[in-house]
Amino acid sequence: MHRRSFVKTVAASLAAAPLLAKSLHALDGQINRLAADVAGATTDLTRWRRVRDEFLMNPGLVHLNTGSLGCAPRIAIAAAAEAQQALEADPVHTLWGALGNGMEDIRDKAATFIGATKDEVAITRNTTEGMNAVAGGLDLAPGDEVLTTNHEHGGGMSCWQWLREHRGIKLVYIPMPAPATDADQIVGLVEKHLTPRTKVCSFSHVETITGIQMPLARIAAITRPRGILLVCDGAQAPGMLTIDVKALGVDTYASSSHKWLLAPKGSGLLYVRKEAKDRVHPIMFRDGFGTYSGSFGTRDVATVIGHGVAIDFHNALGRERIEARCRQLNQYLRDRLATIPALRLLTPAQPELATGIVTYALDREPGSNGKLAEHLRSAYNIVVKTVPGTYAYVPKEDIPGQKGADYNALRFSTHLYNDEVEIERLASGIKGWL
Ligand SMILES: Cc1ncc(COP(=O)(O)O)c(C=O)c1O
Repeated sequence: MHRRSFVKTVAASLAAAPLLAKSLHALDGQINRLAADVAGATTDLTRWRRVRDEFLMNPGLVHLNTGSLGCAPRIAIAAAAEAQQALEADPVHTLWGALGNGMEDIRDKAATFIGATKDEVAITRNTTEGMNAVAGGLDLAPGDEVLTTNHEHGGGMSCWQWLREHRGIKLVYIPMPAPATDADQIVGLVEKHLTPRTKVCSFSHVETITGIQMPLARIAAITRPRGILLVCDGAQAPGMLTIDVKALGVDTYASSSHKWLLAPKGSGLLYVRKEAKDRVHPIMFRDGFGTYSGSFGTRDVATVIGHGVAIDFHNALGRERIEARCRQLNQYLRDRLATIPALRLLTPAQPELATGIVTYALDREPGSNGKLAEHLRSAYNIVVKTVPGTYAYVPKEDIPGQKGADYNALRFSTHLYNDEVEIERLASGIKGWL
């Protein structure tokens, strides 16, 4: 746990903006109190209710769709708002002075958070931007193959589709099983689809459709000896799973901190392994990974400040504790929905493949998933995600043999602001509708 918090570091260097310094010191005190309360809580219920009080979400809202967007804690938004005010009071001195230095501190903190070093990590706006940068920074020739799956999100996919349209690369999709039986099955599928022309493997860490956690370390053991670049779309993992990019063995890792990391919207991270930098050279990072550079340009410093506070918030609660809670709630949800015959699980149960996301196909007419989601929202104030099918982000003509595959599914994300009472409400809402 990093007790020298980001807000404290920035506050210390804010002589030119005393009001901001004062309020950041106050935020630091709030984070310390939260950490102490959480450590001292005697039951799970009191601990997580205390945490829920830190959020701005409407009372009664059951937000089971962190996979689309998380809710930022109040302190992250307050820090961003304060930073915005300080910036507008004296833009040039503030941006290139204290706040600019603060942005560099958050890079450091972000790198530690995912197990990397500062020179390997850039602050971005989202996963899509990171994936676009990586794909656009590769020297691929016509006919070179990129291997991916039919369960990727557009944010991790359209960069390869662009390279196919404009550079003549070949895009190969692994048809993903749903649910997968085990990690061996997935590793076997990856091996089966490699060819001498495969230059890149591009997989989500946690898939957007089923929430499966890909066995990346085992995949890296196959790709690295062959010189294949392992590119990872990590939109759905940091802030939910405890990430160590070195242990995962990936060459690049792009993420969206406005999902599970609970940062202000428009916050992301990109990791490029030191040893892979000679093969990944995006225009926007020509002048390095610094938060300001000639090749990247000016950015939204207030959002970056809020991003740093969101990392402090996670560190104060403990990454492992948060992961355990996300998983515990997800298991509770699975147990509650297990007895509903119309729901078919698309996500595997093994702990190494499971996460804080679970998806069920609804065995009813196509489109009934949307109707059920609407009902949950209007009658119960519950927000869930509808999931169409394999072709959500893959043109149907790209995956012959799977044309029209429609899961008619609902996806549930369980994060630290959810609880068992909300899940009971979800289960009775679904049962009542069916
Ligand atoms: C796996 C995956 N990749 C990428 C994205 C896109 O994220 P962003 O819009 O923050 O770039 C998402 C969003 O849901 C996702 O689930």
